[in-house]
Amino acid sequence: MGEPVVEILSFLTDYFGEDFQSYSQSLAEKRIAERVKQLRLPGQTEYHQFLRHDPGEPACLARMLRIRFSSFFRDPLQFELLRSQIMTSLSSTQSQGGFLRCWSAACAGGEEACSLAIVIDETMQLLEVCPTVQIFATDVAEDALEIGRAGYYAPGSLGGVTLRQLGAYFTPEGSGYRVSPKILSMISYCRHDLLDPNTYAPPESLFGGFDLISCRNFLMYLDPQAYLRVFDNLFRALNPGGVLLLGKAEAVPDRYHAHLARIFECGNLYRKLQTGRA
Ligand SMILES: C[S@@+](CC[C@H](N)C(=O)[O-])C[C@H]1O[C@@H](n2cnc3c(N)ncnc32)[C@H](O)[C@@H]1O
Repeated sequence: MGEPVVEILSFLTDYFGEDFQSYSQSLAEKRIAERVKQLRLPGQTEYHQFLRHDPGEPACLARMLRIRFSSFFRDPLQFELLRSQIMTSLSSTQSQGGFLRCWSAACAGGEEACSLAIVIDETMQLLEVCPTVQIFATDVAEDALEIGRAGYYAPGSLGGVTLRQLGAYFTPEGSGYRVSPKILSMISYCRHDLLDPNTYAPPESLFGGFDLISCRNFLMYLDPQAYLRVFDNLFRALNPGGVLLLGKAEAVPDRYHAHLARIFECGNLYRKLQTGRA
């Protein structure tokens, strides 16, 4: 990494007391270049000075590095595979004890957690079973979690929602839609930093034991060491037999190939083998 970029990330890490040095080099360079251009500064060194002296800038760069974009049923095929195969098997096997525990890690404004809740609710209705469902939705950004707790979304983020789901799970309100109390009640939003070296799962979940973990479009922004570190934690938090959803551009590291079986050719869904211990 170029010297100013290293110093900028180290400054942010000290400023917030959170790890900004584990984001990938190309992401950091791109975002800083964008900011340099927006501010019409000569280069990274001048930006570093600006960052140190402008009180609003650290939060602005932090937000740019922690890319926020999400939407309902982002990657619809993955959710269809989850519906048709995974949730059915989870409902009949994993949840025999009456519980289904899920984690939407790096959940942004809750679009992914709500999508999971909708698929689970639809599957439960279909199967006429009703285990207690707990979905922990976590993100490092408090303002993202506030959006999730409010459950109010602009139409632009609902692109993957079907007309039937819109009628069943949302109420139009002003220029957007509010997600139903039933869906919101299935989700607990809490702050969790996936790069925090002191914890591997949200403490509120009493440390893991999940039947389903979705961690999509976050790992791809990390450097290779951090990718492995976070992956280790996700694997540890997943129950044997549990299902892991990754983003389209994210892969299972080599050392987990024998412990996570790909469920379909496509869709990036994996099942942790019963003996899974990497
Ligand atoms: C591109 S969004 C992905 C949202 C959702 N998973 C999806 O695929 O639509 C990435 C999210 O990761 C969150 N994030 C970034 N760094 C994080 C960290 N260290 N711990 C937890 N979440 C983080 C960001 O705040 C952002 O909400």
